[in-house]
Amino acid sequence: MTYKICLLPGDGIGPEVIASACNVLESLPLQWDFVECSIGFGEYQRSGSPLPDSTIGEIRGADAALFGAVTTPPNIENYFSPVVRMRQSLDLYANLRPNRSIPHSSSRAGIDMVIVRENTEGLYSGIERLEDDGNRAITERVITRKGSERIVRKAFDIAKETGRKKVHVIHKANVLRQTCGLFRSVAFEIAKEYPEINMNEMLVDTCAMELIRAPEQFEVIVTTNLFGDILSDEACMFVGGLGVAASGNIGVDAAVFESVHGSAPALVGTGKANPTATILASAMMLDYLGEKEQAIRLRSAVESCIANGEVTPDLGGSLTTSQMAEEVKRKIM
Ligand code: NAI
Ligand code: MG
Repeated sequence: MTYKICLLPGDGIGPEVIASACNVLESLPLQWDFVECSIGFGEYQRSGSPLPDSTIGEIRGADAALFGAVTTPPNIENYFSPVVRMRQSLDLYANLRPNRSIPHSSSRAGIDMVIVRENTEGLYSGIERLEDDGNRAITERVITRKGSERIVRKAFDIAKETGRKKVHVIHKANVLRQTCGLFRSVAFEIAKEYPEINMNEMLVDTCAMELIRAPEQFEVIVTTNLFGDILSDEACMFVGGLGVAASGNIGVDAAVFESVHGSAPALVGTGKANPTATILASAMMLDYLGEKEQAIRLRSAVESCIANGEVTPDLGGSLTTSQMAEEVKRKIM
């Protein structure tokens, strides 16, 4: 079987880390049909849109997509973040952020959690307005039963599939009584479908603190969009940081895997970009495609590179982006 993968290199270091990940994927005993598509600020300068309709169509038609990074300048009129637009257009409702200890001095030990963040609603629904001549700004936070049900179910399914026993539902229902209240009560309903898994609830501010005090207590966290955005960035700092943090955006009929970092303009062309995040995003993609065995091979090759110090400068090594990818390949074979 040949997997059709839509590649979205994007801007900055995106093309460099995508090339490294493809190089590694090609060394696995699988058949790939890579189709490269445009996204990002460079594409906007060329065609007037950072996310052409053709790219959305290709992602839909592929088995999965692998995304590098984009540059999103803040002050350009009519510009929009293609990442947020892509998640909404394809209804990629679940953002998965695994955080797992790595064999490196900067990493704490004993951490193996997945943060499951709702990716399409909440405070990022895009409903904003100005009142009072621009002196009052309002954003609406939309939480739906459907949106809450599917994200909580995704979290419990992940717990079940990966042999985890505990799901933490994170909210602020003591203050946000309607929106978080709905999310919380839906979570309690869904939890009844999974009697073998314990559901714990925690307020988001407590969770932010507990993630620093004792991160190893968490197995699966599920939460709304903004809370998940913040908590997942916080959590990745215990396990190697941006150079290694990977994520997946999963919908009903499409999935996009990406590194968490941005386009790192200062690193472009220096060979200092760590390809690990995108390689680990490829491992998540392999899991999604059902290629669990290959995903395990890929992760252990990456871990042995890290353990041996065969890494880029952000992790204290002296390899370039492509040299590290070659090293990962060598460890797979
Ligand atoms: P960034 O993630 O690009 O960089 C933050 C810091 O981490 C920098 O010091 C950078 O050198 C370092 N870094 C990032 N990736 C690395 C890698 N693979 N290896 C080693 N070091 C790495 O975030 P920043 O600087 O805030 O944003 C730069 C641009 O990226 C902005 O235009 C921003 O909008 C965009 N961005 C895009 C994202 C995406 O495409 N999903 C996510 C975050 C930011
Ligand atoms: Mg973020």
